[in-house]
Amino acid sequence: MELPLSPTTQALAYLVSAILFIFALKGLTHPATARRGNLFGMLGMAIAIGATLAGAAVQGYWLIGFAGIIGAVIGIVVALRIQMTAMPQLVAALHSFVGMAAVLVAIGTFINRAQAGTLNAVLMGELSAGIVIGAITFTGSVIAFAKLQGLMSGAPIKFLGQHALNALIAITTIVLAVHFASTGSWVSLVLMTLLAFALGGTLIIPIGGADMPVIISMLNSYSGWAAAATGFTLHNHLLIIVGALVGFSGAILSYIMCRAMNRSIINVVFGGFGTDSSSSGSAGAVAAEKGVKSASVEDAVYWMEDANRVIVVPGYGMAVAQAQHALKEMMELLQARDVDVTFAIHPVAGRMPGHMNVLLAEADIPYDQVQEMDEINPAFPSTDVVLVVGANDVVNPAAKEDPTSPIYGMPILDAGKAHQVYFLKRSMRPGYSGVDNLLFYKDNTSLIFGDAKDTIEGIVTSLKGGGH
Ligand code: TAP
Repeated sequence: MELPLSPTTQALAYLVSAILFIFALKGLTHPATARRGNLFGMLGMAIAIGATLAGAAVQGYWLIGFAGIIGAVIGIVVALRIQMTAMPQLVAALHSFVGMAAVLVAIGTFINRAQAGTLNAVLMGELSAGIVIGAITFTGSVIAFAKLQGLMSGAPIKFLGQHALNALIAITTIVLAVHFASTGSWVSLVLMTLLAFALGGTLIIPIGGADMPVIISMLNSYSGWAAAATGFTLHNHLLIIVGALVGFSGAILSYIMCRAMNRSIINVVFGGFGTDSSSSGSAGAVAAEKGVKSASVEDAVYWMEDANRVIVVPGYGMAVAQAQHALKEMMELLQARDVDVTFAIHPVAGRMPGHMNVLLAEADIPYDQVQEMDEINPAFPSTDVVLVVGANDVVNPAAKEDPTSPIYGMPILDAGKAHQVYFLKRSMRPGYSGVDNLLFYKDNTSLIFGDAKDTIEGIVTSLKGGGH
C-alpha cells in the first residue's frame, strides 16, 4: 500500500473502524460478549490510528511517536494497577483529557487558520462549540475525579444564589462565544475559555459524591460532543461518528441510570442528594436499639446448608470488600450439597453499570447462575435463604411501601419475600441513598455485622468443617 494513503482509502479505513466501534458497543452490552466487544474496539482504534498516521495530513512522526510512547506507558501502568472500585474516577480523569484535547485542538486550529487567512463562519462556530464543551468537560471531570478520589469532600457544596451564578456564567459564555465566532476577537476567546472552565467546576461542585456516576456518564456524553466538534474542525469523519456514538451512549446511559434510581436528571444535577455519610457507632448497639436482630455466621450456615435454593444479592459492599472470590468458593461448597445458588443483579447495584457482573465474572462465576432483576424476582417467595452481600438500597421495601421515601418507585429485588434474609454489612449505616432500610426490621431478617469478605470466608470455613 502506498503512503500517504489516498483520501478514499483513508475514508474506507475509517468506515471499517466506525463499524467495529458499533460492534464493540453491542458486545459490551452483555458480560458474555464483553471481551469480544473490547477486542472489536481495540481493533477499530488500531485501524483508526494507523489510517490517520498514514494519511497525508501528518507532517512529522517524531513528536507523535514521542507523545504516543509516553501515553502508552502511562496507559499500561494505570490499567494494570487500577482497582475496580476506582474505575469511576479513572473514567472521569480520562474524560478530562478529551475535554482538554478539544480545547487545545480548537485553539491550535484557530491560530493556524488565522495565519493562513482561511477562517470562515462555519469553522468559527465549530471552534467556539469545541472550546466551550471541551472546557466544561475538562473542569467538570477534574472535580468529579477529585470528589471520587477523596481529594475534596464528596458532600454537595452549595451556597445562596448558586443557580443564578451558574446561569449568569452560562449566558456570558454564550454571548462571548457568539462574539468570538463573529469577530475572531482574542479577548473574547480567552474570556470565553476561562468562563467555560469555571462553569465546569461550578456546575459539578453542588453534586453529591454519591451522584457522581450519573454525572460521569453525562460528562462522558459531553466528551463525545467535544470530540464530534473537533471532528468537524479537523474534517475527520471518524471523529464525528465516534463523538456522536459516545455522546449518545453517554446520554442514554445517564437516562437509564436515573430511571433505575427513579430520579430525574434534573433532580440529580440540582438535587445534592446523598452525601458521603460516615456516621458510626457500635453496630451491635445501634442495631439492638433499633430492634434489629444480629446473627452469627453459624446461624446462616445452619439454614443455608440444608436449603433447596439460596440467592445471593451482591451490592456495592461486595465490591468494597472484594468478596467475589470467597463467594465463588461458598457457591461451590453449597452446590456440592445440592443447594441451588443464584446471584441476583439489580440494574444499579454497585456504583457503575455492570459493576456486579464484572466482579462476578472476574471470580469465574458462570453467567447462567447470574440473573437480572426481572428474571429472578418471581423466585424469591420459594427461596429458603437470601444472602445480601454489601447491598442495601436495591432490596429496600421502602421503594414500594413508603410513598414519602426518596427512593419510592425505584424497582427493587424482592429479597424480603424469601424465608430467611441475612444482610452482610459492617454497621447500621444506610446505603447510597441515605435511606434507612425497612427490610432490617422484618421478622425474617437478621444482620451479620462485619466486612463481607471476612464473613463469607467464615461461612466457607464453617461449610468446609462440615457445617452443623
Ligand atoms: P448501597 O445501597 O450503596 O449499600 C451498600 C452497602 O454496602 C452499605 O449499606 C454498606 O454498609 C455496605 N458495605 C460497604 N462496605 C462494606 C464491606 N466492606 N463489607 C460489607 N458491607 C459493606 O449499595 P447497593 O444496594 O449496591 O445499591 C447501589 C446504590 O447506588 C443505589 O442506591 C443506586 O441507585 C446507587 N447508584 C448506582 C449506580 C450504578 S450505575 N450502579 C450509579 C449511581 C448510583 P456498611 O457501611 O454498614 O458496611
